[in-house]
Amino acid sequence: MPVIITTVAALRAACSAARSEGRSVGLVPTMGYLHDGHRSLMRAARAECDFVVTTIFVNPLQFGPTEDLDRYPRDLEGDIAACRDEGVDAVFAPTVLELYPQYPPATTVHVAGLTDALCGSSRPGHFDGVTTIVAKLFSIAGPCRAYFGRKDAQQLAVITRMAADLDLAVDVIGCPLVREHDGLARSSRNAYLDPHQREVAPAIFAALRAGVDAVRAGARSARALEAIVTERLAAHPELRVEYAEVRDAATIAPIERLEGQVLLAVAVFCGSTRLIDNVALRVSGESVDADLGIGWNS
Ligand code: PAJ
Repeated sequence: MPVIITTVAALRAACSAARSEGRSVGLVPTMGYLHDGHRSLMRAARAECDFVVTTIFVNPLQFGPTEDLDRYPRDLEGDIAACRDEGVDAVFAPTVLELYPQYPPATTVHVAGLTDALCGSSRPGHFDGVTTIVAKLFSIAGPCRAYFGRKDAQQLAVITRMAADLDLAVDVIGCPLVREHDGLARSSRNAYLDPHQREVAPAIFAALRAGVDAVRAGARSARALEAIVTERLAAHPELRVEYAEVRDAATIAPIERLEGQVLLAVAVFCGSTRLIDNVALRVSGESVDADLGIGWNS
């Protein structure tokens, strides 16, 4: 069984003790309601680190006033069982008061530029909430390897940049996007979908794949690619497109032509549930390498 830690002081002490014994620390930050996407991060951490900590904290600071903080799915018992199955050493599950004795905190972390577009434009303040809590977790855990999913590609880019800019003693590791068998990206928020919406939702990945097919067939215009994906999504009356955009994968800057590391990312409402998905492309002249994630039946 993993040890359950609820205080900042105890997590700091446990990570320091591990390091003083010469054990490396692996950190897996999550908001809980753990699924196979989260579990893949724990597996990667387990394979590469000696002392693995999964953090479970629904961070209020990254939710907007009209978002789903109050109904965000929670299942601490099930999450602890999942962590036990993955061989995690410690679960950090603090209260809001423990991590934010004064709420909201006066000090926050803002990563400029990368947070302006995609999810940043529709969710103002969201990434400041993410970077603030992740910086706190990095500060508490101390030097470690920290594992994040490419499901949240912009989040990964933002956290990578934060760690570089602030010289944080953390190696930020990106892990593959894990899908359901029908291609839907695994997400805690999939629990919100009713049976009909759940049937429609794989159309999001199908639209991304149609985009990838177009790139493989020679399309190199970012706007044309966005139009292909948007049109495919718009064919489903149950889906409402928030964005379908092509960006530089590392800087999230807009691009005109596809070349180098490119992110094709979407946010789509299925009913009232907001789902995000993406594919990463490496384009070099004629050659196209697409990272479509893992776990789906190809
Ligand atoms: P959460 O949505 O719980 O995700 C925790 C981690 O799991 C993130 O790194 C996310 O990218 C990864 N993840 C989620 N679904 C995945 C999937 N289908 N495949 C691969 N990885 C997946 O992201 C957050 O929480 C929060 O913003 C957090 C970083 C914990 C800060 O509060």
